Amino acid sequence: MIICAIESSCDETSVSLIENGKVLSNVVASQIEIHKEYGGVFPEVASRLHVENINFVIKEALDKADKGFDDLDYIAVTQGPGLIGSLHIGMMAAKALAFSLDIPLVPVHHIIGHIYANELSGTLTYPLLSLVVSGGHTELVLMKDDFEFEVLGQTQDDAVGEAYDKVARQMGLSYPGGPVIDRLAKLGEKGYILPKVKLENPLDFSFSGLKSAVRQLILREERNERPLIIENLAYAFQESATDQLIEKTKIALNTYGVKTLALAGGVAANSRLREKVNHLNDEYPDLNILVPPIWACMDQAAMIGLAATHYIEHNIFGDCEISAVSNKPIETY
Ligand code: KG4
Ligand code: ZN
Repeated sequence: MIICAIESSCDETSVSLIENGKVLSNVVASQIEIHKEYGGVFPEVASRLHVENINFVIKEALDKADKGFDDLDYIAVTQGPGLIGSLHIGMMAAKALAFSLDIPLVPVHHIIGHIYANELSGTLTYPLLSLVVSGGHTELVLMKDDFEFEVLGQTQDDAVGEAYDKVARQMGLSYPGGPVIDRLAKLGEKGYILPKVKLENPLDFSFSGLKSAVRQLILREERNERPLIIENLAYAFQESATDQLIEKTKIALNTYGVKTLALAGGVAANSRLREKVNHLNDEYPDLNILVPPIWACMDQAAMIGLAATHYIEHNIFGDCEISAVSNKPIETY
């Protein structure tokens, strides 16, 4: 069974061929260098670049897997959430392929894709808790069984990746800020103090207060004509952000009898978060902890193909009437 999966929800055009859970090819055309000029993703530019790239990326994914269109059994595509213009390009390409090849179309939820990327690292056992951390999402998702999704808590303001990107901009660093802050934080040490957040639902998150605190700290140092030690600020921000993620995860672990903890989303590439998540085995020795390989934390189509396998098992298909959905709750798959 060969699935051709397409992902275009943000600024990466990606196509992957998956055969029975094995990744045959995974091609990613990243637009990051172009969006860097704007300090973030410029949606209109992203859509246009997806249009330019999509056919080449499909061809390369087929070539790398040494397959042709006739070898494909299913077309999977990210339906949402994401930038609507970007999603439409992948969706139109997927519909055209499924229709012309007369094979089923599988619409996949982007975050469900991020979660199933963990199959590249080990076996998912249930109940499973996923800490989803990306540029658009920060949430704790409980899966009591395969393909059951319940959001236990989520960010009340910025997503953690968004906070990384915005704090990096405040510090005069380039886009995307996550990897840059991650790198600088390793060179920093304890010095600056940033406040903790308290929220009504202990499983919810908040990062805008942390972002404002960084801004205030930068202004305070400027006022006092003290040079800003950006490595130490990166360190303080990274510790605060990852502490909050771990603290909430532990509350959920203590409540739901979880067997597997799966890290998901672009911020899962963060070195300190990976370290802290892996350390949870000291406190929870029986917990199966999964962290995707770095390449699979970023947006790419292999995760969409892996998730599509589960959609197919659950008989969830789309037709030419379906459309991209920019805000798509995970409970609606
Ligand atoms: O999942 P993703 O590729 O796109 C979305 O679905 O949003 O996540 C992108 C986010 C960006 O905010 C980026 O700064 C962040 O992931 N990111 C990181 C790291 N690598 C990527 N954040 C912290 N540390 C990293 N090493
Ligand atoms: Zn993503």
